[in-house]
Amino acid sequence: MALGCSINMTYLNPELTSSLLTINDLIAMKKVAEKISCLTAYDASFSALIDAAGIDVMLVGDSLGMVMQGHDTTLPVSITDMVYHSRCVTQARKRAFVIADLPFMTYTTPVVAAENAAQLMQVGGAQMIKLEGPHFEVVSFLVNLGVPVCGHLGLLPQSINQLGGYKVQGKDSSEATKIKADALKLQEAGASLLVLECVPRELAKEITSELCIPVIGIGAGVDCDGQVLVLYDMLDIGVCKRPRFSKNFMVGTDSIFDAVSFYHKAVKARQFPSLDHTF
Ligand code: KIV
Repeated sequence: MALGCSINMTYLNPELTSSLLTINDLIAMKKVAEKISCLTAYDASFSALIDAAGIDVMLVGDSLGMVMQGHDTTLPVSITDMVYHSRCVTQARKRAFVIADLPFMTYTTPVVAAENAAQLMQVGGAQMIKLEGPHFEVVSFLVNLGVPVCGHLGLLPQSINQLGGYKVQGKDSSEATKIKADALKLQEAGASLLVLECVPRELAKEITSELCIPVIGIGAGVDCDGQVLVLYDMLDIGVCKRPRFSKNFMVGTDSIFDAVSFYHKAVKARQFPSLDHTF
């Protein structure tokens, strides 16, 4: 970890506090190099199963627009959809930390972002919100209001029409420098977690070691502090083609619970992602 990283954190023994994981637990996991396991979840039944399998974090991702609603992109997802699915997930879990996505066009200004984040937290029950891209002013506004924020850099699915395809980001050095600088600025703006999607392993490794906040990778190599996958991809039940960085964890089992447990254990043991799932 980079010198000068100091984070104001009180780590409380989970046995002495409520059983829900908190951001402090995730930061403590980074400090002791325990990998953080994360999966997307959209409904109560999967939420309870994923929670029982020991997964640390559930992301109510706007990927639900693709895997549940059947859209080609995440763009049509509304804040009403996100609040509904967040509520379904948070009601059914006992331990996992829950993050919910602010969907496309719901954080165009700091005030708009605050109104929508309030819904995700107050009605949806989310413990943190996630937003895509280098929106430092929005992040610091939310954080000053008491909203924990997860940043998201690298491949930004909400910008798919600008990117022109789901491609690896940060392959050339100017792109890599920009992603790294944005990551540091998001941390400075007060983000307490970062998702890095589809970037080369070496870039993700550098960013993870320089940031004090936990970095959760998807298609970003094994060196991130944690891993996230889209649930329907790793169960191989999605309507979309499974991305190269994902893995079918149903191979070798006929139980969804076992597949989720294998994923959890593989992340903790640094066995996933392997080089086959890395750029
Ligand atoms: O919406 C989502 O599922 C996500 C993950 C791909 C990180 O943002």
